[in-house]
Amino acid sequence: MSASSKALEGKTVVVIGGASGIGFAVAAAARDEGARVVIASSQDANVQAAVTRLGGGATGSVVDVGDEAAVAGFFERLGPFDHLAFTAGDWGGSMFAPARDLDLGVAQAAFTVRFWGALAVVKHGCRTIAEGGSITLTGGMLAHRPMKGAPVPTAVAGAIEHLTRGLAVDLAPVRVNAVCPGIVLTDRTKQLPEDLLRTFTTRQPLPRGADPAEAAEAYLYLMRGGYTTGQVLLVDGGGSVV
Ligand SMILES: NC(=O)c1ccc[n+]([C@@H]2O[C@H](COP(=O)([O-])OP(=O)(O)OC[C@H]3O[C@@H](n4cnc5c(N)ncnc54)[C@H](OP(=O)(O)O)[C@@H]3O)[C@@H](O)[C@H]2O)c1
Repeated sequence: MSASSKALEGKTVVVIGGASGIGFAVAAAARDEGARVVIASSQDANVQAAVTRLGGGATGSVVDVGDEAAVAGFFERLGPFDHLAFTAGDWGGSMFAPARDLDLGVAQAAFTVRFWGALAVVKHGCRTIAEGGSITLTGGMLAHRPMKGAPVPTAVAGAIEHLTRGLAVDLAPVRVNAVCPGIVLTDRTKQLPEDLLRTFTTRQPLPRGADPAEAAEAYLYLMRGGYTTGQVLLVDGGGSVV
């Protein structure tokens, strides 16, 4: 094992949203590097199933990031930890709508988990995170490549990037970064029609969706990379350069 891959050995890595998808892959990769992994999501059955799949070295808690008191209680019970990844995202309601048809209630709710949830987790997590620790948030490629019918998810993803920059200054020396995924083939996105997925990925230099483990690599780099803060790491099969 190289020195950099030992960077997480014995560290406590918290993954909010770690019960499935990208977050689960982050948790599994951190566990493989010897970290003690703590995952959290809002549904008990999902947390239990994920902890079982992760095996030794992982524990889990039920936390709804929309409930600030629950978030505060989670970090109080957890105590000191080293690295935090936030990948929680809900998929309810249709935040995908053209501006003229938007339900503003749905538009506001689209920020609840992905933006306000992230901020609640940072607010309470930053009190007990190690000085040399890191926080990695999750945006999305819509922030860089908006599509028709998607002004709200574009704004959510963009807001995460600016929150990241603000937090990197505010919380230093704790490092704060974000991963900006393109299409990642999680159970969630695999439910989308294949031809729709292809329209997103076909013009990319790497014309396919990412395996969740490939996206997880970016989170692990940002945890280990001690001189990287305030950055947004695009993991998009090169889609942003063409
Ligand atoms: N997959 C992609 O192609 C892609 C691309 C760009 C951006 N992203 C972003 O990356 C994030 C993760 O995507 P994914 O594909 O990995 O989705 P996913 O598999 O659905 O994972 C999301 C996780 O968030 C948890 N969660 C949902 N609501 C929560 C809440 N209120 N409190 C705490 N946890 C909550 C879910 O578990 P519970 O249901 O148990 O709460 C689930 O484990 C999302 O924000 C998504 O927008 C994904």
